Amino acid sequence: MTQSSALRTAASHSALRIPHSALVVPARRPRRLRQGATLRAMVRETTLDAADFIYPLFVVDGQGVERPIGSMPGHAQRAVDRLAPVVAELGPLGIPAVLLFGIPARKDATGSGAWDPQGPVPRATAEIKRRHPALVVIADVCMCEYTDHGHCGLLADAQGTVLNDETLALLGRAAVAYADAGADIIAPSAMMDGQVAAIRAALDAAGHAGVPILAYAAKFASGFYGPFREAAESAPRFGDRRGYQMDPANGREALRELALDFAEGADMLMVKPAGPYLDIIAAARARYDLPLAAYQVSGEYAMIKAAASQGWIDERRVALESLIGIKRAGADLIITYYAQEAARWLAEERDGPTHDSR
Ligand code: PBG
Repeated sequence: MTQSSALRTAASHSALRIPHSALVVPARRPRRLRQGATLRAMVRETTLDAADFIYPLFVVDGQGVERPIGSMPGHAQRAVDRLAPVVAELGPLGIPAVLLFGIPARKDATGSGAWDPQGPVPRATAEIKRRHPALVVIADVCMCEYTDHGHCGLLADAQGTVLNDETLALLGRAAVAYADAGADIIAPSAMMDGQVAAIRAALDAAGHAGVPILAYAAKFASGFYGPFREAAESAPRFGDRRGYQMDPANGREALRELALDFAEGADMLMVKPAGPYLDIIAAARARYDLPLAAYQVSGEYAMIKAAASQGWIDERRVALESLIGIKRAGADLIITYYAQEAARWLAEERDGPTHDSR
């Protein structure tokens, strides 16, 4: 079939005997620009690039540890000495950054492991920067992986109420420990009020005025974090996070959270999760000219993996479609567990013939 035959007007389908007078002739024909892969590529508005991706890594204490995470196929908890093969692949794939989460050997009520200079995040940071100075290391700053109760800060009571201002001091300590170890960006995710200002002040006082903050500004209390809590061993022992993370129903409040982190001096803003919150990403894009990140979280990844493993969906198509949707909504950067696979798929598409299926 020639490219434009599907749109030819004169040849009405003779077998169907549609009388010419019964044909509705559209005044506008958007299908004209969908004829053939090359033309479609020319008018494509949004493109994905490996340079958009940030790759999360789970680092555990100890040596030689590599424990696959059941609900996140392709991801594992790794000791510092097991990171090298994974990290070495990122640069060649064009992925510019990693996001580090630490799982300490011991947890306590205050989460003191979070600022241990020998903890998994500082050691991993130093090791990655030593081998790959150009790779950007982003350190997540939160207490939930380090507290024995699994909440994101110091507890006020047995119901799981988290003390805000006291927690800020601890987040500042952790941020400084990671910057001391060489982290390029600090990413606070505890959802404490004033955490960006507190961390900015702590970093500046410690001589790290040049270290930027990527603020988890609009972070929702989401069921989509389920697999992550297995990966980071950070599920709260009791209660939940609704006392500090946002209500999924609140879009206007998300804008207030973004405004606060902007005013407190965030260098980049983040919306999390991504897929179910595309409206928040679009609104953030419209209001702020700071770089905007979106986090495609563990549950979003696990759902695609699970459905694909059943043969119910085409993993590559669905994963890339989920990512292009996040980019189209307005994200500059996407934190995604698909970073490596997606970068490989994108490279294949660039090198090989254009896929007509997209
Ligand atoms: C908190 C933190 C969480 C995630 C990133 N940072 C978990 C939580 O808030 O419960 C979730 C990321 C994901 O699900 O992939 N330290």
